Amino acid sequence: MPANPDRGRLSLGQRLVTMRTRALAGGFGLEISGIDLAAGGPALHAAIVELFNFHGVLVIRDQRLTPEAQLAFTRAFGEPETNQRLEYTIPGLPEVYVLSNRMEDGRKIGDVDAGQGWHTDASYLERPAMCTMLLALEVPDEGSDTLLADLCAAWNALPDDRKAVLDGMQVRHSWRSLMALKGIALDPDDDSIPDVLHPMVRRHPADGREALWISTGTTAGIEGMDTGEALALLEELAAYVTQERFVFRHKWRVGDLLIWDNRCTLHTGTRFDVARYQRLVHRTWVRGERPV
Ligand code: SIN
Repeated sequence: MPANPDRGRLSLGQRLVTMRTRALAGGFGLEISGIDLAAGGPALHAAIVELFNFHGVLVIRDQRLTPEAQLAFTRAFGEPETNQRLEYTIPGLPEVYVLSNRMEDGRKIGDVDAGQGWHTDASYLERPAMCTMLLALEVPDEGSDTLLADLCAAWNALPDDRKAVLDGMQVRHSWRSLMALKGIALDPDDDSIPDVLHPMVRRHPADGREALWISTGTTAGIEGMDTGEALALLEELAAYVTQERFVFRHKWRVGDLLIWDNRCTLHTGTRFDVARYQRLVHRTWVRGERPV
């Protein structure tokens, strides 16, 4: 890393950039201002990735990024994922997904309901999304806050005897269950995204910190446990990790770039008055590693 960005002045070659940082929710999140990601190059981007590895959430203020520039910045974190619903992506950029209630030429330009309900992105994949980035281009005056839960704090707050019971459990994540929940009927022979087992306690590759890595919507059971019992346990744990004491609420401003680490957080979108306000957000995802 080029310098300690928490000190506020980051040396990038010959230039000094003044980056201001402020801890959010006890250090779980970090607010960053004073930088321009579009003008900054690989050294600035690498410094942000380094901060990201040690904070579950980054809020970078006052960014103006074209979809191409957002994608270029996303690549600093790894390989961007493409989206399955191409109708809500930027033409020619299947990696940039539009969250919006806007209509253009009589057609919806984005997904208005994405992300409602606590979850970690794409946990139904063998290699779930590692990081998610949302850039706010238009925000409602009220509503649409994004909530993030700190799964490491939740794990750390458990008593040791509870930890001993949960550690080692394998949770079944299921695309099919998620689709059923959304009322989308899949062809019974479609096995394109098979169920996958992931550890309930996930270790972060940057520093080994542990997260109580459960989700909702995709979680369909626990290996070796009766399904009813497993679902009850998963429900209890989801209520536990999303208590207010573990949650950071992001209230949006135009130009905010919100980045979260899916390896140690859950998140949910919240609703807003779609008849009164418009929201336009560009989302990118980065492919992750197999959880351990
Ligand atoms: C998401 O979960 O992808 C979106 C969350 C939000 O719109 O706040």
